[in-house]
Amino acid sequence: MPASSLADRHEELRRASVEVILAGQAPSGGYVACPDFPPYRFSWLRDGSFVADAMSRAGEAASRECRSAEAFFDWVARIVEAGLGFEARYTLAGERDETEWPHRQHDGWGLWLWALREHTRRHGGGARWREAADATAAYLERVRLEPCVDWWEEREGVHAATLACIAAGLGDDLDLSSAEDRLDASLLVLPFLDFGAVDVSPLISPLISPGGGVHRHLDDVYYGGGEWLLLTAMLGLAEPDRAETCLGWVADHAERGGRLPEQSQDHLLHPETYDGWVAKWGPPPSPLLWSHAMFVDLDLAVRG
Ligand code: BGC
Repeated sequence: MPASSLADRHEELRRASVEVILAGQAPSGGYVACPDFPPYRFSWLRDGSFVADAMSRAGEAASRECRSAEAFFDWVARIVEAGLGFEARYTLAGERDETEWPHRQHDGWGLWLWALREHTRRHGGGARWREAADATAAYLERVRLEPCVDWWEEREGVHAATLACIAAGLGDDLDLSSAEDRLDASLLVLPFLDFGAVDVSPLISPLISPGGGVHRHLDDVYYGGGEWLLLTAMLGLAEPDRAETCLGWVADHAERGGRLPEQSQDHLLHPETYDGWVAKWGPPPSPLLWSHAMFVDLDLAVRG
């Protein structure tokens, strides 16, 4: 395809992504992780902060979109001010999630502070979130080195990605001395948050599949352990030389109506586990708002 029509196609998908995100935001301001996948009908702090950040970036070009980032910040601030604790996710109405998903994850709270700061740097404002942001920072200072559950809701420990999200939120330098040494593509958040001193790409190269998509970790058995669109986009953001290829890879995995799923089934690490998940929860999540957010970020970055 000629470069110009490829760029047009990507721009169209970026606009469709913004629409999917806008449609996935509840009147309360919470972003649903995935509207069509019942176990994901909650608003995660992690997913929501990446989504709000992407909308804030997109809002530099079109002002209407940045308002939804602010509605998300309001939603989070109400949760903090209501004293609902610092949990990984809440219902879209902003109540505690009583399901069995792990509750203690600190990264999303660091990401919220980081996204809020980036947004106010771009668009101004910020006073109305100050109290909630201060309370969040005080909480993170207290718990930053305590074990919690990783990005993938699987392992409890002290994770490099979590430490990076907290450090970015608090505006601190990154100290990974207490982090577990583990091969996990969540490490791609380090360059994303501008902790460029750690060269992540060689570390995660065993997680890049022959087709170019990125797996979460080698023992991933969730829906067979496919390649995640959001991680592939993060790889493109981390490595400018790969940005176009990663953007094309993600776009090629768009489904009908420009919906971006959580993962692809081109290359499964543990295919024997796929059917069990489908029997349990149905087909893999799509559209995943976090996938759309990372596509928006990467497309904006490629356009310069
Ligand atoms: C992922 C989390 C994500 C959640 C909602 C889980 O399967 O492991 O990282 O926050 O889905 O998208």
